[in-house]
Amino acid sequence: MASSLKYVFCLLLASSVSALVHPGMLHTDDDFTRMQSKVDASATPWIIGWDLLIANSHSQPTYTANPLPIVYRGSDGVHAENYGTLYNDVAAAYALALRWKIQDDDEFADAAVAIFNAWSSTLTSIQGDSDAALAAGIYGYEFANAAEIVRSYSGWAAADQVKFQTMLHDVFFSINYDFLNRHDGQTDPDVYFAGWDLCQVASIMSIGIFNDNETMYEYAVDYFKSGVGNGNVHKAIWVTYDVDGETLGQCQESGRDQGHSTLDIGLLGVIAQMAYNQGDDLFAYESNLILAGSEYTAKYNVGYDVPYTEYTNSYPTDEPIISNYSRGSLRPTDELLYAHYHDLKGLDAWYTGLYRDMVNNSTGGAEGGGGNYGSDSGGYDQLGYGTLTFRLSAA
Ligand SMILES: *[C@@H]1O[C@H](CO)[C@@H](O)[C@H](O)[C@H]1NC(C)=O
Ligand SMILES: *[C@@H]1O[C@H](CO)[C@@H](O)[C@H](O)[C@H]1NC(C)=O
Ligand SMILES: *[C@@H]1O[C@H](CO)[C@@H](O)[C@H](O)[C@H]1NC(C)=O
Ligand SMILES: *[C@@H]1O[C@H](CO)[C@@H](O)[C@H](O)[C@H]1NC(C)=O
Repeated sequence: MASSLKYVFCLLLASSVSALVHPGMLHTDDDFTRMQSKVDASATPWIIGWDLLIANSHSQPTYTANPLPIVYRGSDGVHAENYGTLYNDVAAAYALALRWKIQDDDEFADAAVAIFNAWSSTLTSIQGDSDAALAAGIYGYEFANAAEIVRSYSGWAAADQVKFQTMLHDVFFSINYDFLNRHDGQTDPDVYFAGWDLCQVASIMSIGIFNDNETMYEYAVDYFKSGVGNGNVHKAIWVTYDVDGETLGQCQESGRDQGHSTLDIGLLGVIAQMAYNQGDDLFAYESNLILAGSEYTAKYNVGYDVPYTEYTNSYPTDEPIISNYSRGSLRPTDELLYAHYHDLKGLDAWYTGLYRDMVNNSTGGAEGGGGNYGSDSGGYDQLGYGTLTFRLSAA
């Protein structure tokens, strides 16, 4: 009797406790331990990334949030865009959260918490034109990632964490989910380029994790595998080639420009990293399709030729050749991809490594974060600092 009651109790417990892991987005506890030991040892190249982080104005404990009731991205014809305020505060929250984990000094966590609480008690919606969805996607996943790092901090009151969850759900997730379901009312969802979908997927996945909502998390994984729009990985990396024994994957935006193609690769890496830390290996999905896309995009952006297949969609878009517009765009995206595919899995990721080096060379030998790549939104599309956070081996 006693043992069968115990059994029933365990079952109830198992069904009411989320299977989601914390911290389990871009970084795990093991990752933070590695970062801290590399910084303590002043090991290169991690220390270069650390120095970039602590020199960045966003990582100072004196940073103050500038919360807004309504964020505008894109013009609705009436209101001026103001979303720069949000992406600066999100970058600050992430930078401060990292410093807290590595420096073990609560003043950084307190400063991050002040940013989370300021926004969750002020923000009610994101508006503008269809670009509002980009803000909800990109800053949604970034904000949730910053919060996940500080989630275990005793100085962030449970009630305030719930308020932050509510903001993520009501303001960000609601837009993310609507976008993936309706694509702004377009008859054919292929009208929206891959980056639009991918940032919604990343946001829903990360909000699902932060809010302990497995339904949301699974929805994001399913969309990545079989969604109707270009955020489905089979559409994001839609044709592959065998070149000198290596698989290269053309990106859905390769014929548009390289700024967006490199953004897509960065988002795919973020999605796969978060899922990996939840026990789902999307990096390996479809014979490492993300790696094929990364190798293709990196190879072209560091200066080599790649094969290309004409791309058309119902917009109508007709892209007969690969676009050299913004070729060589610098985004702090490939430390994550190279660490996973090359260092962890032992796979060939040569061009991803070259792109990583080209990017880190531009900031002195390590990836920087928001603020190190200009003041425009593109410089805040990634959380960055990947040399410090993802690098597994020095060479
Ligand atoms: C998870 O989120 C979905 C979408 O908002 C919601 O319908 C559902 O009730 C949530 N589940 C839990 C356990 O909160
Ligand atoms: C970029 O591509 C265009 C064709 O779209 C071509 O005319 C131009 O020469 C190329 N520029 C470079 C620097 O390769
Ligand atoms: C590295 O950066 C320096 C200075 O910014 C530049 O002169 C050099 O060409 C770069 N090297 C590579 C391989 O990108
Ligand atoms: C990029 O930085 C790494 C160290 O993080 C260094 O090994 C590599 O040489 C750098 N690449 C370039 C082109 O400077």
